[in-house]
Amino acid sequence: MLNVSHLSVNRGSRRVLHDISLSVPAGQTLAVVGESGAGKSTLISAVLGLLRPSSGEVTWNGAPTQATRPALVMQEPRAAFNPALSLRRSVMEPVVAQRIALAQGRLERLCSGLELPVDLLDRRPGEVSIGQAQRVGILRALIAAPPLVLFDEPLSALDAVTQKHTARLISQLQAEERFAALIVTHDLGYAVAHADQIAVLKAGQIEEIAAAQAFALNPQTAYGRALRDAAIALGALEEAA
Ligand SMILES: Nc1ncnc2c1ncn2[C@@H]1O[C@H](COP(=O)(O)OP(=O)(O)OP(=O)(O)O)[C@@H](O)[C@H]1O
Ligand SMILES: [Mg+2]
Repeated sequence: MLNVSHLSVNRGSRRVLHDISLSVPAGQTLAVVGESGAGKSTLISAVLGLLRPSSGEVTWNGAPTQATRPALVMQEPRAAFNPALSLRRSVMEPVVAQRIALAQGRLERLCSGLELPVDLLDRRPGEVSIGQAQRVGILRALIAAPPLVLFDEPLSALDAVTQKHTARLISQLQAEERFAALIVTHDLGYAVAHADQIAVLKAGQIEEIAAAQAFALNPQTAYGRALRDAAIALGALEEAA
């Protein structure tokens, strides 16, 4: 289980995360929502061990998270890849690095679920669309069956239909492989449908954290309610009965 306990993080001299506590059991998903600049990507970097906490700690089953080789789907799809390498080389990098024997047909199955032709992987990152690069990023994150996956806006460049299919693949794989997922998203409809918990982040603090259904039904803070109501007004979330 991922455990974040009283985490505070500075960037430069500014404190951008304040006393964050949350946990995500294996097989479950926590969605992080909140305004631009709230600290969502910073939280991901801290969970990955790329930023050092000013105080507090982040652990996976009691040990530093790096030891579990967490996977990351980056917010900027193309920046995630070495431009000089074929996408296939980048996708296979975690498999090669960890000397994993890939199950027969796994690459093909994931490509199919992500609606990516396998031979697209022979191209370089600059030779595919941003939405394709985003799905290749998801492929790379999931290929080696990591126990912990961090997704930073993983569906932002996809059309609604592709979003739905991609979300379904992620959920299916999670049900089979039991990875814990922390997903940053602006899409509250997605969060309510796919996450177990929702954490609302504002100005580096957790405004509220609740079971996804409970949040949809009855947000506990003014900001949470505003987010929920805006999603309903946009048609991104169904009004709870
Ligand atoms: N490399 C950096 N150096 C200094 N400050 C940074 C750096 N990256 C981000 N920040 C600041 O940290 C705060 C949190 O940024 P962060 O990228 O975590 O936000 P976010 O919630 O992911 O936003 P978005 O939804 O726009 O991606 C912001 O005030 C931002 O300006
Ligand atoms: Mg961000």
